[in-house]
Amino acid sequence: MPLVPMTDLFSRTRAGGYAVGYFEAWDSYSLEAVLAAAEAEQAPVILGFGCMMASGEWLEAGGIETLAGLGLPLARRARVPVALLLNEAHSLEQAKRGIDAGFNAVMMDSSAWEWDRAVREVAALVAYAQARGASVEAELGHLPDAVEGGIDDSAAALTDPEQAAEFARLTGIDCLAVSVGNVHLLTEGYAPVDLDHLEAIYRRVGLPLVMHGGTSFPPQAVPRAIVGGVAKFNVGTILKKSFLEAVRAQVCAWPERVDPHQVLGSHQEADLLNAGKASMTTEVRRLIRLYGASGKALS
Ligand code: 13P
Repeated sequence: MPLVPMTDLFSRTRAGGYAVGYFEAWDSYSLEAVLAAAEAEQAPVILGFGCMMASGEWLEAGGIETLAGLGLPLARRARVPVALLLNEAHSLEQAKRGIDAGFNAVMMDSSAWEWDRAVREVAALVAYAQARGASVEAELGHLPDAVEGGIDDSAAALTDPEQAAEFARLTGIDCLAVSVGNVHLLTEGYAPVDLDHLEAIYRRVGLPLVMHGGTSFPPQAVPRAIVGGVAKFNVGTILKKSFLEAVRAQVCAWPERVDPHQVLGSHQEADLLNAGKASMTTEVRRLIRLYGASGKALS
């Protein structure tokens, strides 16, 4: 099954009543975990990496190309339809580098930029991407971030439906990430999402909508969110937590001496990071089922 445009993955979500998951990876083990889960569930999936948490210095020093190098061979060998996304690039330059390196979908985090700059640079990215067969996601409005001890909503802004329609028209984006009460990076509890507001955005914009902050999105709200226009859920924090907890448990259970060749990089039973991968695969499978995408690679 080849790497397919992200827009192809969205072409059947509405009629099929499901959403595609973007499960953010950070290395080869976590990327393999996502693909293993999607193949086990026979589900289309968006593979990829995010720029938000990675060192800017590292991304500039070839990090984006390194991530594409990890993702492309795996994406091309996938047995379910996949797209490969570079998420939340910090600049137009980084997003373009992502496309040049092989990502077939990019999202530039322009949500904090003033209107004119966001329209100009997102439109420029769309032109660049279209000429190379890549899809573009953008965000309008700004999500609150979870911080130590609570939620920082000082820069948060709900997506305005009229502005969103105008933004989509001026830029030509393929899908729009929205702010409707969803929260980024929340490790405990659920975000107070406003589904009426979501529906109002979809009525005006008519494009596939993207829900960032998947970790804290209330599970019981998922079906109505999909009816209300969400075609893609972005998930990150809960995956890192499950990976880390499994690795920590494995280390705690180690005997006094371990064989470094077995536990590091062997990709065999004793490989430390395989424990994280297995745990993350289970978590991604659960979420694929929650989004109704299980079995949808077959249809
Ligand atoms: P969470 O880490 O809150 O799941 O959000 C991930 C995300 O939105 C990546 O774009």
